[in-house]
Amino acid sequence: MRLGLTGIRKTAGRATAPRRTQAGAAQGGRARPASAGFAFGFLCRFGLAAVAASAGLAGCDSGAPAVAADVGASAQHAPANPPAVAIAAQALKVVAAREAAPNGGQTRAQVYESVRKMTALGKQLFFDPSLSGSGKLACASCHSPDHGFAPANALSVQLGGNDMHRTGMRAAPTLKYLQAVPAFAEHYHESDDEGDESVDAGPTGGLTWDGRVDRGGDQARIPLLSSFEMGSSPAKVSAAIKAAPYAADFRAAFGEHILDSDDATFKAVLQALETFEQTPELFYPYSSKYDAYLAGKAQLTQAELHGLQLFNDEKKGNCASCHISQRSRDGAPPQFSDFGLIAIGVPRNRALAVNRDPRFYDLGACGPERTDLKGRAEFCGIFRTPTLRNVALKKSFFHNGIYHSLEEVLHFYAERDTNPGKFYPVVKGKVQKFDDLPKRYWANLNTEPPFDRKPGDQPAFDEAEIKDIVAFLNTLTDGYKAGH
Ligand code: HEC
Ligand code: HEC
Repeated sequence: MRLGLTGIRKTAGRATAPRRTQAGAAQGGRARPASAGFAFGFLCRFGLAAVAASAGLAGCDSGAPAVAADVGASAQHAPANPPAVAIAAQALKVVAAREAAPNGGQTRAQVYESVRKMTALGKQLFFDPSLSGSGKLACASCHSPDHGFAPANALSVQLGGNDMHRTGMRAAPTLKYLQAVPAFAEHYHESDDEGDESVDAGPTGGLTWDGRVDRGGDQARIPLLSSFEMGSSPAKVSAAIKAAPYAADFRAAFGEHILDSDDATFKAVLQALETFEQTPELFYPYSSKYDAYLAGKAQLTQAELHGLQLFNDEKKGNCASCHISQRSRDGAPPQFSDFGLIAIGVPRNRALAVNRDPRFYDLGACGPERTDLKGRAEFCGIFRTPTLRNVALKKSFFHNGIYHSLEEVLHFYAERDTNPGKFYPVVKGKVQKFDDLPKRYWANLNTEPPFDRKPGDQPAFDEAEIKDIVAFLNTLTDGYKAGH
């Protein structure tokens, strides 16, 4: 067996994934604490997840959507997830206690109102290009609501900066289902409800491809200030808000004098964006055909079912060992990621400007974007496993956006090791395998199926099987309506 963090993680993942659901079914599921596994949340800090969720505004836990669904009309999923209701009840008790307490902070009605205001503002901010230095770039420019909050175009990396010609080194990810991402941990132990607590699943969680921040507000700061993205500053953001049609609403939500201070205004902007990103019906509706299938409300076609089998099969795709496809033990819907940071040796994208410098490498968790794990060799080349929910709406794949169709991605998984010359440059007849990771870090690379082969072996799956896996991935798109 292979040593290193990634090896530990994968063994753990495979061993626990299939067993989870059975155990969960046997026990009928259990509620978990409302704060568990939540990476960014202002309500959650106050233990008020379910208040917001039951108002259809925001939620904290991966189990929360069922609560949201109660109100949010996608009722087909509501009964499927009783633990979430338990969470709601628990959190409401917390609030009831606060309401009863003499100095108990905000009442439920006040919290509801403040979340509603902040969500509405966050939405305005998200779509407002005037926050950027160029006046042309909004969050929504790179995170399009019609494309699962991923880019609408097929560029590997998006254009930004003051001249709108600058680029970064990474593909813009979807913003959906981030509520389920746990805070970054070097050694992640699953909660009692999710799996085997004693297993070290390795580095897991955090937002962005390298897991470098834990909260939505801290994340939002990055594109707002980045010179190759929105290129703004607290002073510019503050000036934009003073001139915006929603300036009065902003003061109503954050206080009459909020706009007197640029820093306070900037912090409020981050908080509003973070709150908006927790709107369940927009960001985690669990309304895909696959969700309907899990709830017994839809049938998969032959091709989709076969694709699901291949996706789960440990000797074929083995995809589910990282992109979890089954409900967790407590009945929460699958997120299609275990949020582990893993090195799979994605080829260098030579179309990126940063990569014109042959000495430059985007090494994920060990830098250069992330700085706290610099020099820690075991973190080099690892990137956070993305959710595959809504992946069919994306037009660029992997952290560097090198591929532009799911078929290309699937070929990479099937043939990375059997036919590496197809993916990596060939120099003087020799394949430059793993050309985006210096050799000293190769021990970090994953070698579990489908990456357990050598040149000349059969690919892990064939053309017809790729078609079926892609058909299955298409069932993960939200907004499914029976009969379509
Ligand atoms: C120029 C394109 C661009 C703009 C504009 C942009 N983003 Fe992003 N976003 C990205 C990229 C690229 C990443 C991945 C960054 C990384 O991994 O270092 C990202 C990552 C994120 C993530 C983390 C997703 C995950 O999977 O962990 C969140 C949340 C996010 N952006 C929110 C926002 C918000 C809020 C705004 C507006 C304030 C915004 N973005 C503006 C390109 C953009
Ligand atoms: C060992 C864990 C692991 C396994 C097994 C695995 N993946 Fe992934 N997957 C990842 C990681 C990590 C990434 C991001 C890699 C990167 O960008 O460097 C990823 C990225 C992807 C993406 C791109 C998503 C996006 O938003 O860019 C798709 C699609 C995907 N995987 C599908 C699959 C399928 C289908 C299978 C099975 C054939 C599979 N994966 C097996 C870990 C895994």
